[in-house]
Parts: sequence; C-alpha cells; structure tokens
Amino acid sequence: MGDKLVIGNWKSNGRRLENEALLTLLCAQALEPNIGVGVCVPYPYLDQVGRLLEGSAVVLGAQDVSAYPDGAYTGEVSVGMLADFGCRYVIVGHSERRALFGESDQMVARKARLALEGGLVPVVCIGETLAERDGGEVASVISRQLEPIWAELDVDDLARIVIAYEPVWAIGTGLSAEPSQVDEVLAFVRQSLSSRSTQADTVKILYGGSVKASTAFDLFSLPDCDGGLIGGASLVAVEFLAICKAAAAVSNNGSVNE
Ligand code: PGA
Repeated sequence: MGDKLVIGNWKSNGRRLENEALLTLLCAQALEPNIGVGVCVPYPYLDQVGRLLEGSAVVLGAQDVSAYPDGAYTGEVSVGMLADFGCRYVIVGHSERRALFGESDQMVARKARLALEGGLVPVVCIGETLAERDGGEVASVISRQLEPIWAELDVDDLARIVIAYEPVWAIGTGLSAEPSQVDEVLAFVRQSLSSRSTQADTVKILYGGSVKASTAFDLFSLPDCDGGLIGGASLVAVEFLAICKAAAAVSNNGSVNE
C-alpha cells in the first residue's frame, strides 16, 4: 500500500501569525521521504500557507469545495480557485459538514468528481455516529456513504481518491476508536473498493478521530490503514511532527518486510 499519508485538518482555526509560527516549526523539520504530509487550511489562508510551504515537502489542501463550477454561486469557492492557489488535496464530506451544513451523500460524491476533474485529490470522509454504531448499522452507513461515490466516479478516477474513515464519535472527543474497530471498517472499505476497482490496493485509506502521537503508530500499523486525517493535533507542531514520525516508522517497517 506504499507510503503513509498524514493530512492535517485545521478546521476553522488559525490567524496569520499563528499559522506562520506553526508552519515555521513544521517546515524546519526534515520530513522522512517515505511519507506524504499535507495541511488543509481555511480558505482565507490558502495564499499565505501556500507561500510558507514553498520549498517544503508539505502540500497544501482545502477543507471543502463548491459542488458547482465558477459562476453565479454567491459565497462559493470552486475547484478552479483551489487549483489556482496550488491545492493538491480537498476534504469532502467531513462529518461536520454533513451534520451542520446538510451535505448529502450525493453532494459529497459530486464534490469528489468536480475535485478530480479539476486535478485535485478529494479526501472523502465517511463514518458512523455513536447511535449508528450502537444500533449495529456501521456497515450499512458506510455502504450508504460510499455507493454514490462509486456511482459518480468512473473506475480510473476511483483509483485517484483518498478515503478517510472518521467515526463521528471519535472526532474531537479525545476518544480514538480502538485499533480493532478501525481495522474492521477499513477492511470493509477496502473490500467494497475492490469490487469496483482493480487498483483498490493502491487507494489510500486513512483513519481520523482523535489521533495523537501516542496512538498513531498502532493505528497506522493496521493492514488497511494508509495514514491519518488529523484535526486537533495538527495545530500543535510537536504533536503533528510526532504523528508524522510514527507514520514514517510504520512505512519503514513495511519496506523492511517487503
Ligand atoms: P480530531 O479531528 O483529530 O480533532 O478528532 C479529526 C477530523 O475531524 O478530521
């Protein structure tokens, strides 16, 4: 499954001075060559962060994108604009957007397709709530969220997406899912992908939800886990760097065994 990928999701956090301080610390560390690292930042800071990342191995991303192209869509930010600022990744369907901003599975799939058409990599978020888990609905919820993606994207495009499994109850709660729980869902996602794409093994599937430096190694060591989507911990340079280090350590172990 190749190199691990670690993506920071700053959410609605940041100010110019804070961003500069954080990224100066981040960029001062030489990242291991066997991992990919990105930061998804609020729209107003794309330009600033893009400039600060110039010459570093950390790539730029956004946290959402319009489901429409350029045009008469007041308040929206199109894929073309994100590409213009040098974004490589864009998160689509984060659970906060689904829950607070009413994004449907279909809208998320449409955003993923537009992102791909515009040359960006969509990081498609999926995950169940606690009530859904307690109700034994994890597989059906994950399938319901994935189906429109499979329907909207053609087979070649499927190979270019990133999927992030983020159980809603583990996001921002400090309560990371147990590796065994994560393992089960990631394997389910990989299997679902395999039924659509012959390249399912190369698609990066991340885990997100209260990942910390202390839990990252075990989570990233799971057979179907290709890295993490990191919220709170991505705002603290030492913590985020330690998570990247854990990803590199797992990648190194993998290449020793291969
Ligand atoms: P968290 O957020 O790491 O703060 O739980 C993850 C996310 O929402 O992407």
